[in-house]
Amino acid sequence: MKIVTSVKDMQGWALQARKSGGTVGLVPTMGFLHAGHVSLIREARRRADKVVLSIFVNPTQFGPDEDLDEYPRDFERDEALCAAEGVDIVFYPPASDMYASDASVFIVEEQLSRGLCGGSRPGHFRGVCTVVAKLFNLVLPDLAVFGRKDFQQLRILEQMTRDLNFPVEIVSAPIVREEDGLAISSRNKYLGPEERRQALCLREALDRAEELFSNGEREADAIKKEMRHIIGRNTLARIDYCQIVEIRQLQPLSTLNCPALAALAVYIGQTRLIDNTVLEWGT
Ligand code: PAJ
Repeated sequence: MKIVTSVKDMQGWALQARKSGGTVGLVPTMGFLHAGHVSLIREARRRADKVVLSIFVNPTQFGPDEDLDEYPRDFERDEALCAAEGVDIVFYPPASDMYASDASVFIVEEQLSRGLCGGSRPGHFRGVCTVVAKLFNLVLPDLAVFGRKDFQQLRILEQMTRDLNFPVEIVSAPIVREEDGLAISSRNKYLGPEERRQALCLREALDRAEELFSNGEREADAIKKEMRHIIGRNTLARIDYCQIVEIRQLQPLSTLNCPALAALAVYIGQTRLIDNTVLEWGT
């Protein structure tokens, strides 16, 4: 396994890999790798000859009051995990090499990023789109794998890839959870023991949404009301959003007459957690 820390070397490797045939799969991450990231690596390995995993805590996707400086980092552990999982290249650039100090071109998605996380994190998806487009240009992958845990991010990146004609196949992978149902996230590390216990309310609320839906409930308000109620029983939980949207354009639904996504962002203490589930119409 090779560690590449310069943007120039990464692109050099990618151009060479293109010439020698074989496919390249990219797994973009911000590091502090966990079982969710591992599932993406395995998916990339199944589909591509070479796997590049990027580790970059991307400053442009963090707001001024967000956790950029505190974001957990452990490069040595990440490196060992990548080696064990058969990653070919770990791309680990410094921010100064990724962004020129006078960088002035960014990518803005104008529809799907309005609500949900885009509503509460202005500029977040501008940062995500920009860095992922840059990674596509540096790694020249045939495919890139993203988790459905960040469902809105996945949809926006699919849209960007289509609208800007990147020759990259976007592959999505299911949410990996802890045994008790909490969606695995690098940010779970911030949770104290009582917060960790109350964090289960996200999964509980989504379970209830699935249950109501499978019992025939089709009014979004009725489902959201119960989800809010379940979360509200937890003293440390504060809802950022609790939404039911149509699955392609991510527009809020009042009646569930098409495939829908129940999506949650909840602060548990200071830690903002997200989770979601697809409510398949007709099942
Ligand atoms: P990060 O939060 O490190 O996540 C990297 C990838 O892992 C994303 O595609 C995310 O959806 C996926 N992932 C995280 N937790 C998961 C889980 N429990 N199950 C399945 N997949 C999971 O998302 C980002 O980084 C950044 O925004 C990035 C795309 C790298 C751009 O900076």
